[in-house]
Amino acid sequence: MGLKAYGTTRRHADVGTDSVRLDLDSGSEISQWHSPITGGVAFLCAGITSIAACEADPEATSRVNVLHTLTLAQKLIESGIRLVLLSSNAVFDGASPEQDELSDCRPATEYGRQKCATEQGLLKIAGKKNPVAIVRLSKVFTSSAGMAAEFMRHFSAGEICAAFDDLKVSPVSMPYVLDGLIAVARSGQSGVFHLSGSKEMTYAEFAGGLAAAMGADASLVRPMASATTDAKVLFRPEHPSLGMKRMRQLLGIAPEAPADMFQRIIRS
Ligand SMILES: NC(=O)c1ccc[n+]([C@@H]2O[C@H](COP(=O)([O-])OP(=O)(O)OC[C@H]3O[C@@H](n4cnc5c(N)ncnc54)[C@H](OP(=O)(O)O)[C@@H]3O)[C@@H](O)[C@H]2O)c1
Repeated sequence: MGLKAYGTTRRHADVGTDSVRLDLDSGSEISQWHSPITGGVAFLCAGITSIAACEADPEATSRVNVLHTLTLAQKLIESGIRLVLLSSNAVFDGASPEQDELSDCRPATEYGRQKCATEQGLLKIAGKKNPVAIVRLSKVFTSSAGMAAEFMRHFSAGEICAAFDDLKVSPVSMPYVLDGLIAVARSGQSGVFHLSGSKEMTYAEFAGGLAAAMGADASLVRPMASATTDAKVLFRPEHPSLGMKRMRQLLGIAPEAPADMFQRIIRS
């Protein structure tokens, strides 16, 4: 699309022409930090995303995820940059279906509480003069990393893999999310938006669907209850999907259907 993009990294070795240093852990570094651009759009993605890490150390993680993220946001706004904050379905407890963009937040985890605090803090900093967009995501999958990549490796090798059948997600593919984020940024619209799968399924069902889409044998998936393992599951939403009423109305984007999602993951 011919767009120039910069990323940030907290690792000195990865700093380069398109990648600038940014460590949200360091208050002094953030207060001295300067944006490499003026104008344009910044997608705020960096932070501590582990639910377990946030639960284990609310103070340190909140410093990164809330306090320093908001200090950074203030600086970016002062540089004339439009902000798009990535947030999460964890701002809801997952007890009720189809929570849409105007539903009240009701987090059940420390990570979700931090996401809510960042959203609210950002809206306050921005005020009416500097409209910002907040895009909440359900669970994102890609073939290049994480659980989908692991499942795909197993299926390609004809190996059995275990997947939880008592933990639900509403999966979306990375390409769907990237297209949605770009559409929000280009639209100039502000406020809260959701990007979600159209279906809720267990990890075992997700793995089975992925296997089928790859033409692999679905019997390679071994359903397993998380309760029977050592896995500490701290967020167990009955309804992990998000309603997308506002996204649909303003930008015409619908929740991602499973068939499209599996194909996009495989091709991504
Ligand atoms: N993935 C999902 O399914 C999902 C779902 C809902 C919402 N989201 C939201 O989407 C955003 C991106 O999620 P993700 O899954 O890509 O997260 P991720 O894989 O955990 O990546 C987080 C990024 O933040 C960086 N980071 C961590 N601590 C930092 C610090 N102190 N200073 C600067 N950078 C730091 C990490 O850098 P290193 O590479 O150096 O560790 C990493 O690049 C997050 O806001 C998350 O809440 C994601």
